Amino acid sequence: MKKVISVVGARPNFMKVAPIYHSSKDAKFEHKIVHTGQHYDYNLSDSFFIDLELPKPDYFLGVGSGSHSVQTAKIMMEFEKVLEIEKPDLVIVVGDVNSTIACGLVAVKMGIKLAHIEAGLRSGDRAMPEEINRIATDSISDYYFITEQSAQDHLIFSGISEEKIFFVGNTMIDSLVKGLEKAELSSVLENYQLTPGEYILATLHRPSNVDNKQSLEDFYEVFQSISKNIKSKNIKIVFPIHPRTTSKLAEFGLLEKFKSLENLVMIPPSPYIDFLKLMKYSKLVMTDSGGIQEETTYLDVPCLTLRTTTERPITIEIGSNLLIQPEKNKIIDALDNSLKNPKKRIKVPLLWDGQAASRIVKIIENKILQFTS
Ligand code: UD1
Repeated sequence: MKKVISVVGARPNFMKVAPIYHSSKDAKFEHKIVHTGQHYDYNLSDSFFIDLELPKPDYFLGVGSGSHSVQTAKIMMEFEKVLEIEKPDLVIVVGDVNSTIACGLVAVKMGIKLAHIEAGLRSGDRAMPEEINRIATDSISDYYFITEQSAQDHLIFSGISEEKIFFVGNTMIDSLVKGLEKAELSSVLENYQLTPGEYILATLHRPSNVDNKQSLEDFYEVFQSISKNIKSKNIKIVFPIHPRTTSKLAEFGLLEKFKSLENLVMIPPSPYIDFLKLMKYSKLVMTDSGGIQEETTYLDVPCLTLRTTTERPITIEIGSNLLIQPEKNKIIDALDNSLKNPKKRIKVPLLWDGQAASRIVKIIENKILQFTS
């Protein structure tokens, strides 16, 4: 029987691979999951396996944190051992994290075919580690599964032939569609005493936003201004904090200052199902994440993306997302405008219908494995 290995490493990978796992249960190939251990905290990893009904991974490489080079190198060394044992016919990598490029490189160097899910996205900002990971992974992949038209344009422009590109939709939205029913049962709103439509959900973890003190102080002032302006309306700000952000706040001596803000509810990184509920019922989302731009677009929740670029332009063109330069006054103005006049999406992006993974599995069976020796 032919064998496929999917790689997960960091939080945004789990919801993209889970639907492939579920859709491939009756497939004509064997499917194994390798977790590199790039993310290892319960809140960033294990809780996602539970919420997404994923089994324990077949291999856990336990590489942990480190500089980009150390992390990437460790993943490569460990993944090579797995491929030597398993000898799969195809390796699947998703998204743009260090685990994506590290495992992709190992696979192609060993002559194993490589498929990239969420291929072709480009922010145009090479200062983002994810952009380098995207460009590098796409330059070595054999098959490209894409979520929006801009990805096709970028891949064709870089010389990839059209028959290797498959516009299948978005597996992250598959997980969202499946998770919504469960999300209704989550008690996260009660747990934090939140009322639907009466809170803003904020997430921040990009190095460009959280790795320097000035930028964090600016965000403090943004939160403070929201706190002041909306106090009378009793609107809260819910802020699930990524470990990188927590450690930076502590390093710069800002943790207590943030904690002292009235109306700011600081919570640990949220499990997947709870986070879906938090997004769905929020008045507005403020984020620097990639995936949240897509999830809020599907849910039609106004989203302010605090970055200068996005690799997901469809969320701006037809979605409920707005790109806001992460500068104090610009964010405060944008918040004010959005609360008064929230942006609604025009329509759900093409093929974001909960069926992307089953399309991918069919393509793997009928088109890819058939041609792979
Ligand atoms: C990684 C991805 C980013 C993704 C994000 C989602 C890359 C280059 N970046 O960024 O694209 O949006 O995941 O979370 O792959 N840490 C913990 N516990 C963990 C994992 C990390 O405490 O389980 C801390 C460590 O101090 C670590 C820091 O967070 O140094 C950053 O982790 P890392 O995996 O290097 O990158 P992220 O910022 O999480």
